[in-house]
Amino acid sequence: MGWSSWERFRCTVDCQRFPDECISDRLFRLTADLLVSEGYAEAGYKYVIIDDCWLSKKRDSKERLQPDPERFPHGMKQLACYIHSKGLKFGIYENCGRTCEGYPESKDHLQLDAQTFADWGVDYVKLDGCFVDINILDRVYPAFGYYLNQTGRPMVYSCSWPYYYMRKGLKTDFKKVSKHCNLWRNYHEIEDSWKRLQEIINWFGENHYKIGKHAGPGHWNDPDMLIIGNYGLSLEQSKTQMAVWAILAAPLIMSNDLCAVSPELKDILLNEEIIAINQDVLGIQGKRVKKEQGISVWVRPITPVRYSHSYAVAFTSNRDYGVPYTYSVGLKEIGLKNRAGYTFKDLYGDEEFILHPHENLTVRINPSGVVFYKASVLV
Ligand code: DGJ
Repeated sequence: MGWSSWERFRCTVDCQRFPDECISDRLFRLTADLLVSEGYAEAGYKYVIIDDCWLSKKRDSKERLQPDPERFPHGMKQLACYIHSKGLKFGIYENCGRTCEGYPESKDHLQLDAQTFADWGVDYVKLDGCFVDINILDRVYPAFGYYLNQTGRPMVYSCSWPYYYMRKGLKTDFKKVSKHCNLWRNYHEIEDSWKRLQEIINWFGENHYKIGKHAGPGHWNDPDMLIIGNYGLSLEQSKTQMAVWAILAAPLIMSNDLCAVSPELKDILLNEEIIAINQDVLGIQGKRVKKEQGISVWVRPITPVRYSHSYAVAFTSNRDYGVPYTYSVGLKEIGLKNRAGYTFKDLYGDEEFILHPHENLTVRINPSGVVFYKASVLV
């Protein structure tokens, strides 16, 4: 869980015109302060991750990477120290080839770059895959992971490897990816729109059979950043993203302007029960079990387990008609078969009730909204 600059701040490098938005020391210190003062850190959002556009156009005289001297005048070690002093972790970005925004590449300096990051106190590295021959990714990603480990400093390793395969229509060897990476991007990057969010959600619904079993503690599928708090999603759509990310056991990495998140959206991002589902110790990735009438039903096995699992159950809506929709499904039909039943707790409301496998669960789902329950197993 953490925060990344990419989706919201992209490659804004003009600090004269956009002092509050440019990729700079100031943005990351301010974000670290806000993560703590606004309660995000306490809720679990610990990683402050710099995405593209932090690098200087040239390596230093010893071939080491260096940050842009004007935007990061104190260097990365000092920034890492500041972030650590707030009890947070420090993440950084590099690319096998030239970065997608044109900054220096890593592929011929993997060992040196891994060591440089360790020397700076980096805790998380995202390695992207722009501008290289796809055939080298199979070598570069494992090699960089190896060098990260060789430094002796624990660093989370985020790989974009499967995404570049997917783009070319190639099949990813997820067994291999999950051996070398802690998380990996599967699909196109998120944009600040409901349309793109729907595409991502749909892709994860459709491809569960290929990717789901490769998720687990220490290795996760990554549907990309949380865009809650930006311009593109309504309140309902924001609830949907948070619920589906919890079902998918997805990394919760916000990319937003923490100064500007409204109280209602902040409540979604800080919802303790939903975060607990996302972080459930079993680490089982949930899946879409039904899609009918424009409604998708998502189910994720979670703790507590007593003879049978408890479940997170979400109903999302793709219906175009602008009214709430009543939908009903038998518990057994969606895989909830524990004879003694379940206590259902509405995670975006207060309602609590008991249901048994032969009974129907009836919900009323707002357009582009979600109804999200924790179903705790009864004995
Ligand atoms: C492509 C990735 O998909 C994005 O998440 C971001 O890292 C950009 N590259 C940066 O250039």
